[in-house]
Parts: sequence; C-alpha cells; structure tokens
Amino acid sequence: MKFFIDTANLNEIREAYDLGVLDGVTTNPSLMAKEGIKGEENVKAHYKAICDIVDNNVSAEVIATDFDTMIKEGEELAKIDEKIVVKIPMIRDGVKAIKYLTAQGIRTNCTLVFSAGQAILAAKAGASYVSPFIGRLDDIAYDGLSLIEQIVQIYDNYGYATEVLAASIRHTMHLVQCAEIGADVATCPLKVITSLLNHPLTDSGLKQFLADHHKVNS
Ligand code: E4P
Repeated sequence: MKFFIDTANLNEIREAYDLGVLDGVTTNPSLMAKEGIKGEENVKAHYKAICDIVDNNVSAEVIATDFDTMIKEGEELAKIDEKIVVKIPMIRDGVKAIKYLTAQGIRTNCTLVFSAGQAILAAKAGASYVSPFIGRLDDIAYDGLSLIEQIVQIYDNYGYATEVLAASIRHTMHLVQCAEIGADVATCPLKVITSLLNHPLTDSGLKQFLADHHKVNS
C-alpha cells in the first residue's frame, strides 16, 4: 500500500518523508488556502517546492470547472514537474478532461468521488487514481469503507488500471481497514501516519529491555 500525506504544509511533508515511508502528497484548494498560498505563480512555486521534497506523486488540483480551462490548467500544472498528478473533480467536464489529459500522457487523480458509479466513470476515462472520500461519507452516516470495498471489487472484476486512493482518512483504523480491503493508496494527515507507531506494549517493553541492559552494564 502506498502512503500519501494529505497536506500542503512543507514541514509536515518533510517530516513524513524523513520517516522513509512516504510515496506521495495530495493537496486540494482548501489545503493550499490553509497555508496562505495565493496567486498563480506562488501556487506553482509551492507545488514545485513539494515536488523537490518527495520522490513522486504530487496531486495538484485544477480550479476550473469547464473542459477547456481544466485541460489548460492541467497542462500548466503538469509542466511544473514530472511528479505532478493533475487532480480533477468528478463532474461531467472533469471526466472529459481526464480522458483528454490521459491521452496526452498526463497522470490524473479523480477527486470528490462518493459512489461506485462515479468510480467506474473515472476508471473508464483512464484516471491514474480515483479518490473516494471515506471520512466525509462517514460524517453523513454512510459507510465510507464499504465504498472502498465496492470499488476495489469492481476494478478487480475488470482489471482497471486506475489505483484506488482512499482519501479523507480521519484515523488509524480507517487506514488499517483500507489496507485490509486492498486499497492501493491511503492519503491522510501526518498525525494518522505517525499514530501508527504507537503501542503501549512497545513502550513498556522497550523500557524493560533498557532497564535490564543497564542493570548488568553499569
Ligand atoms: C484528498 O485528496 C482530499 O484532499 C482529502 O483527503 C480530503 O480530506 P478531508 O475530508 O479531511 O478534507
């Protein structure tokens, strides 16, 4: 399973990368705004700074919602760095834009996916990644993990190359359950990745090992 970090914060991206387990980054317009990044040139420079930290897979989202402007923006974003994956919303013109950009050899991530039907469209259009938002479904009392399970099964039935990128992950159990189901990628905040480290038996076990070592070595 690939781990992406869902943030535009450079320090958090560096910290996750330094841990040695990071495969990519997802951003969205809200995350960019949270970092105070505004203006076309600053946005591009920020994406470049992210690309300079990680090895691959930096999702950068288009703002346009019509086909012509989406593909123009997508092509501009893709020029920033070969690590860029153009993030396109699951709307009618978005599906067309995914098909177009894929044919140009530009990788895409179809975002804001909340149903299996939408995921089928994204795969048929040739998206590199599909991003079902599980936390936002859970928030409205739908089962986000069941959607991941459904999409994994459907893609498996037909051998679609699109990778299932479980998004809107809120806690470690979301991530572990996505791994059990067979999601290809999980994107989550830094806190979720680092929380995987924690177990009280690891802490008490290590304390005991070190105490026993020091007893005979001091
Ligand atoms: C994914 O690409 C999205 O940026 C993200 O996972 C959304 O998460 P949220 O529902 O916590 O905002």
